[in-house]
Amino acid sequence: MAEVVVRGGVVLSCGAGGVTVTESDVVVEGGRIADIRRLTRRPPRRSASRSPAGASSTEEIDAAGCLVIPGLIQAHVHLCQTLFRGLADDMDVITWLRRRVWPLEQAHDYASLGASAALGVAELLRGGTTSVLTMESMSHTEAAFEAAERLGIRAIIGKALMDRWEPGTEMVGEDADDAWSEVLSLLERWHGAGDGRLGVALSPRGPRNASPETWRRCVELAREADLRLHTHVNENREQADRLGASPEGRDVEALASWGALDDRLVMAHCVWLSAAERSLLRRHRAHVCHCPSANLKLASGLAPVVEYLADGVNVALGADGAACNNRLDGFEEMRLAALLHKPSHGPRALPAALAFEMATLGGARALGLERDVGSIEVGKIADLVVVRRDRLHSAPVGFGDPVSEMVYTHRSDDVSHVLVGGRVVVADSRLLTADENLIRAEAEAQRAALLGRAGLPD
Ligand code: GUN
Repeated sequence: MAEVVVRGGVVLSCGAGGVTVTESDVVVEGGRIADIRRLTRRPPRRSASRSPAGASSTEEIDAAGCLVIPGLIQAHVHLCQTLFRGLADDMDVITWLRRRVWPLEQAHDYASLGASAALGVAELLRGGTTSVLTMESMSHTEAAFEAAERLGIRAIIGKALMDRWEPGTEMVGEDADDAWSEVLSLLERWHGAGDGRLGVALSPRGPRNASPETWRRCVELAREADLRLHTHVNENREQADRLGASPEGRDVEALASWGALDDRLVMAHCVWLSAAERSLLRRHRAHVCHCPSANLKLASGLAPVVEYLADGVNVALGADGAACNNRLDGFEEMRLAALLHKPSHGPRALPAALAFEMATLGGARALGLERDVGSIEVGKIADLVVVRRDRLHSAPVGFGDPVSEMVYTHRSDDVSHVLVGGRVVVADSRLLTADENLIRAEAEAQRAALLGRAGLPD
């Protein structure tokens, strides 16, 4: 018996043959997509509504007149930084890390990190992001797992590993063995938790924020336990050049020398790769996570993703953290990715269908979950998003290309319903798994306490 039927929407999905568009019912059983039934009659156009499971115990979501898309997937987020929103604006990444982000991260306690993560997850789910790869801080990573478990997002979460001092950022190091024990206990407690929704990533914060020994440990464990490696790479030009002049070479060269450069590695940013690094990337099939808003706001530059895509590299998208974006909005990153590269490469560069693929299947590949999520196909996990089309900014609808409409017109606040693993976690644009007002109130209170502890420099 179907648990949920998403009725009559225009279903957009990326498959092997590109993006498909059909008017269909999507039938969910056992948390997976059991059937996609094509409609023969055009349904009337209206906004989505939900009739909860009644006597029949099948919940119906009326998506007639709406778009139905795979849940968006973001491959680089810092949930621990959501409480820092608006506290670190108009700085380059080095100043931003030294003067704001690092002191604030160190001031987190369990409660403030939990409030930060809950706020971030609520924003992500309400905005149609159903899966994330996140990097947290040195301590209290369990609080991020608990928030993700409670609110119902699919998340691969890593404790930031930082056992090495990187000159310039003043990010103090931690003891390598203590940090490693914490990783092992997170793995034991959380990997596969939440009915398989949660996973652990290994997250050396950057190639030079963790020692080569820690990187080697990570590479070995990632291979053994099939885990994702997640790090920041060549984000800021001055930093990339300065570190690149060291005997270890540039970031991607250093990663290759430690055996880290393979298809388990997700590299956020990759704004300033040298020709030699690009050629390593091409050969070793690591994933790039493009973070257009963060790269603009921190004045880092424009990652050459058109070239990476031409090289056959998988590129995913990420909002990064609220400290440098300041939103966690998958729609916005997708639209920006499609727009930003056109002035230099022409209007056909990064067309809508490719941006949509980066935001869905590209993210799934980066997270190593492409067999389960990232597209709407029978047998895949039902991570689905219903997008309203009945708003002023999207009118008139119906004659253009729905994929272009999705990328260029829609906004995260058009999301009406979100399913993760077949469970309805957002309905009628409200989060069902927690009280949004309580999440906001807790975030306000915890931010005040955090600022009291942090003693930020001017
Ligand atoms: N480099 C090292 N840490 C960070 C971080 O938290 N955010 C960004 N954008 N870059 C980093």
